[in-house]
Amino acid sequence: MTRSLSLTLALAFTAGVALAHEGVKDPDVMARMELMEDIKAATARIDKMRRGQAPFDAGKAAADRALLVEKAEAIPDAFARKAEDPKSEALPAIWTDWDDFTARAEEMAAAAASMRTGSRQALTGSFGDYAATCRACHEDFRMP
Ligand code: HEC
Repeated sequence: MTRSLSLTLALAFTAGVALAHEGVKDPDVMARMELMEDIKAATARIDKMRRGQAPFDAGKAAADRALLVEKAEAIPDAFARKAEDPKSEALPAIWTDWDDFTARAEEMAAAAASMRTGSRQALTGSFGDYAATCRACHEDFRMP
């Protein structure tokens, strides 16, 4: 790849991320949004594999599972400061019900760790419980 092409691609990628969070000024809010976007991307890769929209690859599925456990464990730190931003969808309950909030992050980490990545069928069987942990937290702690 030529240097200018890789630079163009790098800029295009950065612009895409910036657009998704246009106007977010608080760096901690930006960081926690990016954490959620990483979680969404890895979850989407696994979802595509189990639906047969992407070739099944046990190694890739296991790598994404490990990544998701790590990202779930990073949620409490990412929200530790009550950072605010007009673009944020975080609800104040996060900081008034902190133990509940961190318990939801632990549930996501546990469900991610329990995903069975050995076959497409096993992945499908364990994906529902995992995906439910996103909704469980968003319902109480993120604006609808
Ligand atoms: C422990 C709570 C919790 C869990 C678990 C959780 N989220 Fe979130 N998520 C949030 C909160 C709070 C926000 C809003 C953050 C903000 O706007 O400041 C959010 C925002 C998001 C966003 C929007 C990010 C942006 O760019 O603004 C996406 C996408 C997302 N979550 C995906 C997921 C997926 C997929 C899962 C499950 C695999 C998940 N989340 C699990 C709490 C959680």
